[in-house]
Amino acid sequence: MPDFRKWRKEFPILSKSVYMISNSLGAMPRGVYGELEEFADLWATKGVVAWEDWVPMVQSTADMIGDIINAPKGTMIMHQNVSVLQHVLISCFDFRGKRNKVVYSDLEFPTVHYNWKAREKDGANVVIVESPDGVHLPTELMLREIDETTLVVPISYVLFRSAFIQDAKAIIRRAHEVGAVVILDAYQAVGTIPVDVQDLDVDFLVGGSVKWLCGGPGGGYLYCRKDLIPKYEPKSCGWFSHAKPFDFDMDPIRYHPGIMRFMGGSPGVPALYSVRAGYRIIQKVGVKAIRKRSMQMTARVVERALEMGLVVNTPCDPAVRAGTVSVDFPGAERACDELIRRKFIVDYRPRAGIRISPHFYNTDDEVEAMMDEIAKLRARPRRRK
Ligand SMILES: Cc1ncc(COP(=O)(O)O)c(C=O)c1O
Repeated sequence: MPDFRKWRKEFPILSKSVYMISNSLGAMPRGVYGELEEFADLWATKGVVAWEDWVPMVQSTADMIGDIINAPKGTMIMHQNVSVLQHVLISCFDFRGKRNKVVYSDLEFPTVHYNWKAREKDGANVVIVESPDGVHLPTELMLREIDETTLVVPISYVLFRSAFIQDAKAIIRRAHEVGAVVILDAYQAVGTIPVDVQDLDVDFLVGGSVKWLCGGPGGGYLYCRKDLIPKYEPKSCGWFSHAKPFDFDMDPIRYHPGIMRFMGGSPGVPALYSVRAGYRIIQKVGVKAIRKRSMQMTARVVERALEMGLVVNTPCDPAVRAGTVSVDFPGAERACDELIRRKFIVDYRPRAGIRISPHFYNTDDEVEAMMDEIAKLRARPRRRK
């Protein structure tokens, strides 16, 4: 096992708290200070000419994630967030024909659901598969719903509430058999479990940077399989989606031949600087090593939680559990507030409980300390009103 402790000095917050909230906002690497200074320096000294450096960063920054998820060059761009990306991708589809079915589950991140559900008025037939227990999503249930009328399957690789890892490969295979495409939201996967877009043969992949990639907000990213890029024409577009943005022509848009067609307007440049330090660290540590370490720590969290008699709203089988363990008990929401006050940083979500997400920079002692603190809080007598 590599020495993960050496990375701790790169994350200032680790000296001030037990930080286990990578499901929400990973620890900031100290290298971000320098990155943002570089952004400000360039702006201050080069002014408008700085765009020469900034525009190519839309792809070069995304290529850094490409290295992590095995995406070929030219298949990824940075964007704002997953919500906007869903909107851009939805605008590529026509729901007026017989093939108008959209299949996902009731455990999806709500932003995906809001966007697709809103297209029912345009003819989308949205079918929501129900999880039997609020934790797992048996693959057969998804496969059964994906048929010849299915247009799109917009699903998460890792479910945000329970950290269940979906069998994305089987779902993608089935979608392709019937002529549908899959948009994989890999936000809760990239940086904590190995993701390989070519092995998955996924059509589109979206995600963001603030969780397991230790990046800043506004660092959304899109992957599109190379052969599909010319086939899709997003109605939600902008001058950066044009083949020749600086022609400023007023004819209907002529789409950029490459991945930039999905771009829309000007990039959020500071966000591009804010993500790079985290990506570099994740690349160096390596996701395979991260996954191994994460499995050790989450197994211990599950073990302690079960010993304490907590409800574990996360798969007990490590093979289908990603980086988070959700634990629940009466008063868990209040306990979560108190944990944060005591500098044990986690979060609480309804129907999940307290989400505990150790990352490679956490230690075994921190895992024990977190669970000891939960044990103390749980034992606390309820205050009388
Ligand atoms: C699976 C998943 N998708 C999307 C998001 C967030 O979407 P956005 O980038 O639009 O804020 C989250 C955030 O928690 C998430 O867990």
